[in-house]
Amino acid sequence: MSATNFALVGGATSGLGLASARALAAAGHDVLLWSRDQGGLDAVAEDLRTRHPGRSFTTVAADATDPGTAALVADAALAAGGPAVVVLNQGGPPPVDPAATDADGWRRAFQMLAITPIELATRLLPPMRAAGFGRIIAILSSGVVEPIPTLAYSNAARAALMAWLKTAAGAVAADGVTLNGVMPGRIATPRVASLDQAAAARTGKTVEQVQAASAATIPAGRYGTPEEFAAMVAFLASPAASYITGHAHAVDGGMLKGW
Ligand SMILES: NC(=O)c1ccc[n+]([C@@H]2O[C@H](COP(=O)([O-])OP(=O)(O)OC[C@H]3O[C@@H](n4cnc5c(N)ncnc54)[C@H](OP(=O)(O)O)[C@@H]3O)[C@@H](O)[C@H]2O)c1
Repeated sequence: MSATNFALVGGATSGLGLASARALAAAGHDVLLWSRDQGGLDAVAEDLRTRHPGRSFTTVAADATDPGTAALVADAALAAGGPAVVVLNQGGPPPVDPAATDADGWRRAFQMLAITPIELATRLLPPMRAAGFGRIIAILSSGVVEPIPTLAYSNAARAALMAWLKTAAGAVAADGVTLNGVMPGRIATPRVASLDQAAAARTGKTVEQVQAASAATIPAGRYGTPEEFAAMVAFLASPAASYITGHAHAVDGGMLKGW
């Protein structure tokens, strides 16, 4: 892999990460795919090799809740040449009553959603700065700017990650390195399907009723597709996005009320 067309993508076996890996591969990147399940990673890598013969698609399996994971994933990425593009992404925490959170839940959420991605990006910044090009893109949530009532851990830990992205963006902008967040509104992925199922079980409604009520809050009138989301990731990763840094960009069909 050469540094200029090499991307590291987290949560690459499903949903937003998988669509981002596919979009970056289509844009010409070799990709190091990261999630926990080696079997799932192998299947995605094989599929990408079939779609893009002769290109390099490799894998690293590690859990973002493990304090050792940032170093492990960074070492794998640096050993492969150091990525020009990093997509920080993993799973999300479970729904919780915001009046009944606990210390273990906070530790787990902050490790997964803030400490691991910040440490990983920090380890990968020096070669980007030396090369004069780098793109760090974190998959966040609309909860960063409009807290989601059932996702207190996610709202807070992702806001911490965005605060770091904003701060670090200012420190490295002159070196050609950008750091941005992308906030999905409601994009149709396996995680959103399981959240809708949990809401149906909680409220006694059918999943279809939950989805219809949720879609009705979105001006576009529907959930987004992972491909619509990944188009933003691929743009922010491109040389064309060189003057966009330190911001959280929504891909939400108009769902967020502010701007
Ligand atoms: N879809 C939306 O509309 C939406 C909205 C707001 C926020 N988000 C956030 O965006 C992120 C991606 O969501 P998604 O909808 O694409 O979810 P998804 O379809 O469930 O995919 C999650 C991916 O992350 C990996 N993963 C899960 N836990 C991990 C961990 N502890 N360490 C490393 N990798 C892990 C999974 O693979 P393995 O099982 O192999 O690890 C999978 O590849 C999540 O943080 C989610 O909360 C999504």
